[in-house]
Amino acid sequence: MENTLLTGLNLGAYQLKNRIIMAPLTRMRSKDMIPNSMNAEYYAQRASAGLIITEATQITQQGQGYPMTPGIYSAAQIDGWKKVTDAVHEKGGLIFTQLWHVGRMSHSSHQPDYGLPVAPSAVKPAGKTFTSEWNMVPFETPRALELAEITGIVNDYEKAAINAKAAGFDGIELHAANGYLIQQFLQDKTNLRQDEYGGNIANKSRLLFEVLDKLVAVWGADKVGIRLSPFGTTNDSFDPDSYPAFVYVVKELAKYNLAYLHMIRHRAEELTDELVAEKEQALWNLYPGTMIAADGFTIEQATAYVQTGKASAIAFGRYYISNPDLAERIAANAELNHYDRETFYGGNEKGYTDYTFINS
Ligand SMILES: Cc1cc2nc3c(=O)[nH]c(=O)nc-3n(C[C@H](O)[C@H](O)[C@H](O)COP(=O)(O)O)c2cc1C
Repeated sequence: MENTLLTGLNLGAYQLKNRIIMAPLTRMRSKDMIPNSMNAEYYAQRASAGLIITEATQITQQGQGYPMTPGIYSAAQIDGWKKVTDAVHEKGGLIFTQLWHVGRMSHSSHQPDYGLPVAPSAVKPAGKTFTSEWNMVPFETPRALELAEITGIVNDYEKAAINAKAAGFDGIELHAANGYLIQQFLQDKTNLRQDEYGGNIANKSRLLFEVLDKLVAVWGADKVGIRLSPFGTTNDSFDPDSYPAFVYVVKELAKYNLAYLHMIRHRAEELTDELVAEKEQALWNLYPGTMIAADGFTIEQATAYVQTGKASAIAFGRYYISNPDLAERIAANAELNHYDRETFYGGNEKGYTDYTFINS
């Protein structure tokens, strides 16, 4: 019997050829923050995915948090992405870009005029980060955004959405996961504001929905997705007290008729709350539309998830790093290449475009 992952899927405006999604994967290989022909080759190699979601792509320089991550705010970046989308389309693929503002997960070396990273409130993240020169240093305490600046950020997202159209993308995903700016607003531990962007849940999710409304106005809801990680621990992001905020957000998202909701599932081994699995299931049950699930899926687990209707499709991250032809491999029941963590971030073709295909 054909694996359910290989069946087609109606996702918003598109008919996907399979339910195997390439997860967004930051690879830090875009010199001057401009996508290049090596990036185009990498994505084109993976065009047999039902949908490619690009690496997180900063909407402005202020939204950047790591060296050599691509942006989508300059003419050169739009031209660079056009090479990528053309190459993917030529191979019959579909590609959305993931729009990103890192907020406090940055360092002044990435920022305009070397200013401090910005955030809802001046709360320093635990841990260390990369400077623009690839040195690992402790995070700085970010600067709390002025109320008037927030409108500017909403407009920056809108411009990025318009630029994504010019760059030939098929749609966009709002990165509201992994402890970046949108999630920083959503959660109590990072949002201490007392104005209309803090305090109650409607206020804390105001930025998310203001941005989403702009993206939908540019693209139409059926070409916009959103990624959430209610139980993720990446980037000092987990905040058990914010579960009600996610319940509210998912209920509101259900009204939008988006292309999809993309959920990163919990990693039980990292969380102490025994009820996480139940809470997660309760949250997922609130969403009636197309859902993509991600995080730690084996092919067998992914197949079971889709077969039992827990998710419509599965996004694979690390498997897609090392298996450009993951869909063909699943179809052929072939062995998967192992990924090399050493080459995840930065560098050149090694560990990027040189993974083998089964038919090569
Ligand atoms: C190298 C690397 C880069 C990543 N970059 C992003 C990113 O840009 N945006 C994002 O939402 N998630 C990012 N993630 C998370 C992945 O999308 C995915 O959720 C994670 O790898 C778990 O899925 P997997 O077990 O299939 O790898 C990244 C993960 C890895 C390993």
